[in-house]
Amino acid sequence: MKPWILAGIAIAAFGTASAAFAQDVIAQRRDGLRAMGRHMEAIKAVSDARGDTRPLVARVEEMITFYRGLPALFPAGSGTGDTRALPAIWSDRAGFERANANMVTQLEALRTAAASGDNAALTAAFNQTGATCGACHRPYRGPAR
Ligand code: HEC
Repeated sequence: MKPWILAGIAIAAFGTASAAFAQDVIAQRRDGLRAMGRHMEAIKAVSDARGDTRPLVARVEEMITFYRGLPALFPAGSGTGDTRALPAIWSDRAGFERANANMVTQLEALRTAAASGDNAALTAAFNQTGATCGACHRPYRGPAR
């Protein structure tokens, strides 16, 4: 076989592999984000019930760990397929990373509130946290397609 044919096959195989990789990372980030939604529901339940906020600290720490790693779950090339990620994530990467850094900062405040045992403080920080999720979703997440 001529070398250029081999090169063509290699490039085609690489293209398929990277498309498969992009779908894996999309599934991984979507699973992770759904878990974040469940954490928020659990925190809201404690807020509504005026329950003990301190056991929520471990949950919030898991969220902090997830969001620290979130930008890496949006590599170049993962904007198409089964995803609602908008192209702005890559065309305005600095803005996307800033929205994510705000999320981590806000979750640190939520952790402090949870550790305090003060339900009013938890509720205020929880509401602020929901707003911070929305501040990334509005510019960077599109409608379901
Ligand atoms: C820095 C940006 C950013 C932040 C902060 C953020 N999200 Fe998202 N979220 C996204 C993007 C982008 C998607 C679409 C992902 C995809 O479809 O590939 C998404 C999707 C989701 C989904 C849908 C997952 C699915 O496909 O089923 C849930 C649930 C979700 N986010 C919850 C949250 C919650 C709760 C918070 C706050 C605690 C939050 N997100 C904060 C960017 C963000």
